[in-house]
Amino acid sequence: MKAEDKQFKRTTVTSALPYANGPLHIGHLAGVYVPADIYVRFLRMKGEDVIFIGGSDEHGVPITIKARQQGVTPQQIVDKYHGIIKKSFEEFGISFDIYSRTSHKIHHETASEFFRKMYDAGQFIEKVTAQYYDEANDQFLADRYITGTCPVCGYEKAYGDQCEKCGSSLNATDLINPKSVLSGNVPVMKETKHWYLPLDQYEAWLQEWILKGHKEDWKTNVYGQCKSWIDQGLQPRAVTRDLDWGVQVPVEGADGKVLYVWFDAPIGYISATKELTPDWEKYWKDPETRLVHFIGKDNIVFHCIIFPAMLKGEGTYILPDNVPAFEFMNLENDKISTSRNWAVWLHEYLEEFPGKQDVLRFVLTSNAPETKDNDFTWKDFQTKNNSELVAIFGNFVNRTLVLTEKNFEGKVPPQGVLTDLDKAALEEMKQIPGRIAESLENFRFREALAGMMNLARLGNKYLTENEPWKVFAIDPGRVGTVLNISLQICAQLSVVAQPFLPFTAEKIRKMLDLPEYKWADATLLTWLSSGHQLNKAELLFEKIDDKAIEAQIQKLLNTRKDNADAGNPSVAAIDAPKLIPPMQEITYEDFSRLDIRAGTILEAEVVPKTDKLLKLKVDTGLDQRTIVSGIAQYFDPEKLIGQRVTILINLAPRTLRGIESQGMILTAENPDGTLYFIIPDQGVDDGASIK
Ligand code: MF3
Ligand code: ZN
Repeated sequence: MKAEDKQFKRTTVTSALPYANGPLHIGHLAGVYVPADIYVRFLRMKGEDVIFIGGSDEHGVPITIKARQQGVTPQQIVDKYHGIIKKSFEEFGISFDIYSRTSHKIHHETASEFFRKMYDAGQFIEKVTAQYYDEANDQFLADRYITGTCPVCGYEKAYGDQCEKCGSSLNATDLINPKSVLSGNVPVMKETKHWYLPLDQYEAWLQEWILKGHKEDWKTNVYGQCKSWIDQGLQPRAVTRDLDWGVQVPVEGADGKVLYVWFDAPIGYISATKELTPDWEKYWKDPETRLVHFIGKDNIVFHCIIFPAMLKGEGTYILPDNVPAFEFMNLENDKISTSRNWAVWLHEYLEEFPGKQDVLRFVLTSNAPETKDNDFTWKDFQTKNNSELVAIFGNFVNRTLVLTEKNFEGKVPPQGVLTDLDKAALEEMKQIPGRIAESLENFRFREALAGMMNLARLGNKYLTENEPWKVFAIDPGRVGTVLNISLQICAQLSVVAQPFLPFTAEKIRKMLDLPEYKWADATLLTWLSSGHQLNKAELLFEKIDDKAIEAQIQKLLNTRKDNADAGNPSVAAIDAPKLIPPMQEITYEDFSRLDIRAGTILEAEVVPKTDKLLKLKVDTGLDQRTIVSGIAQYFDPEKLIGQRVTILINLAPRTLRGIESQGMILTAENPDGTLYFIIPDQGVDDGASIK
């Protein structure tokens, strides 16, 4: 069944609980919290009953390891980072209804009861097995207290529960050459009792529920990972650990044992809801509630297989309806890494770019790693700020308000007789909210944001084309009409920008002196009546100069050097530009079959509902033809008219988005991802053959 076919009364949105053992970085925002926040703000604007749950994940072995390293208690660690994390979320406008933590009493009680209920119903397997034990420290070695070589990929620093290189989920006994993190010694085997969730018994049900039931509506990356897990066959999984930090196992004879962190943490969503409202059960137990988990891709198995199996086993809860997991955001071509300090930390960003929360929200959304890993670069951050937010969005709103101030004392002028251009603009305005809504409902955040920018672009273009500053002396009435419509576009921007850029939307609302509208009002077109007094214009965005960007890049270069000095090879290596290695040899005959000509672009437009594709009309000298090219992110279509290019003309036609593409425009791509045309020199005519 497709999501939209089923009617729900309310939505429970959860976002992964970040571990309280370090501050947040841009990868957290990009992959989980900004999309979740956009989605929730949108649902709230639609007037839906929605709760947005967040909190800190405060258990688990890494926290105890960090505490030990720093000579403090685990509680001190989580207190510190919970505070930092919570503050960052608040400052970025992540609008949780509650941001809780798993060290709260209510969570310990909830998780404990959950376990106990399953235990009493005989849903765990009790097993005594031999586990690694560190004799020097008199302690069992859970998960990350043990490292060794990954049996799957050979990575030498794999942990007892997972290999971070290949992503395999492991058991400590799978590791080759195991070593204790505590003493560095080779551990011994010692018997201990634990409780296992028999995932194998859920296999048939998971096949039905996910593989059959969610083939259509779950994202392919999520579905694919689930399928490969299920196809490989599921094993019973221990849900308790020998550790003294976490939720006590509520069973006789389980002293010194706690629930596995991945057993207790997702229950944290439920505990937080309990803390939020006495009416919590309707958000977790009513089949007419839609449960949506926002997570990063490393959390897929836990949210799609293990937690649902727990919910199913417990028996009284609803299951997730969708799990829109994101891929990873890299930083300057390298994996974000806390241990290598390869990150843009949110608390530092806030200090270095005060008041620019929306800029980061914008850049992270427009590059959201929705379907594949994506890259954050400071240069791109600057470009997106300067050429989209400042030059289009901000410039349009500012020009409109300043012109109204100047010509009409800041009062909304009346809408006079409408020209075709005006009518077309109004018509276009009506379409935009519906398109944005459709994208958001399908978790396509980049596309949704592009929809918002299309409105800003429409406004900017409308204002430029009508040049009201030129005609005031001759035709003040016409200027009034143009500004009235431009102001309505500003008003509409304040409505549709709200989920994406909440701070900016509010600024516009204040300038226009408008209330907070619902999504249904996004197509009103008459937010501002004539005579309405506006407030003073204020700049929405400001240019970010090269100096600020260079400082950030320098900071990363320093980190890179520190890492290299510390002997971390993977970081040192990325200094070299990544040129594509040479390809296999071909013959002259192979080459001569390519018919390459000089040509000129005649028309260019973005293919609707895409953010990458341009539909181009080109003159090849021999004919005029259509070419669809995936370069929309690099070039402004308006600036392409008349651009000279090099074209491969005998490539077999291909249909992209229903448009037949007849050839290929040649481009050159630098290792840093910047893209250029191969421009024929002056004197080369269209149709000239290139060999
Ligand atoms: N702390 C985990 C992580 O950062 C996420 C926990 S999500 C929850 O990967 F469901 F367990 F809460
Ligand atoms: Zn591995």
